[in-house]
Amino acid sequence: MVVAIDGPAGAGKSTVARLLAEKLNFTYLDSGAMYRAAAVALDSAGEGHLGQQAANLDIRLGERVLVGDRDVTDVIRTTEASEAASRIATVRSVRDALVERQRKLLAEGDWVAEGRDIGTVVCPGAELKVFLTASPEERARRRAGQLATDWRTVLRDQTLRDEQDSTREHSPLRAAVDAIEIDSTDRTVEDVVTQIAGLARTVRR
Ligand code: CDP
Repeated sequence: MVVAIDGPAGAGKSTVARLLAEKLNFTYLDSGAMYRAAAVALDSAGEGHLGQQAANLDIRLGERVLVGDRDVTDVIRTTEASEAASRIATVRSVRDALVERQRKLLAEGDWVAEGRDIGTVVCPGAELKVFLTASPEERARRRAGQLATDWRTVLRDQTLRDEQDSTREHSPLRAAVDAIEIDSTDRTVEDVVTQIAGLARTVRR
């Protein structure tokens, strides 16, 4: 079974998805980490066909994120890497390469998969689709708390990334028609996780 959680930056997807996977005993897939790792690795990989390069990357997701034997866990979380990921995510051939990899993973087992296009493109057959949102200000405040920076600065970067993610030609960020929209603005993580876990159990039956 696949639970797809999509939504904009800072809506709480990662925290919610990770806890939900633990609660349901499913495996967690952070598809954003793949785009981030590819962006960091391709940045220094030079010219050439980006899609082919992306397909050849040995990205390993887990407690640590590795590209080959390089540990990119920390570097992929910087503002620069976020921006680079959002840029590289507009390249069709790169998306094709990463989506194929994600589909292979999701083909077997039970997953909580998180991203922008899991319910629309990667796994349209997901048994449960959630589109997690929060107000732009609240999302920026949460992210600023994690990064220990001013939320107005975060809001500026976030608005740019939201715009890039929503208006790109290939797989723009949008809710699947059959997704359940959850607004997390005034809610705790635990509350949201409990709601989605409840939905997942209903679907599973
Ligand atoms: O954590 P946050 O929501 O800010 O970002 P992320 O999920 O780590 O994704 C980083 C960037 O990768 C996003 O801004 C998207 O441009 C891109 N992405 C995507 O295009 N498709 C996905 N399934 C996941 C991420």
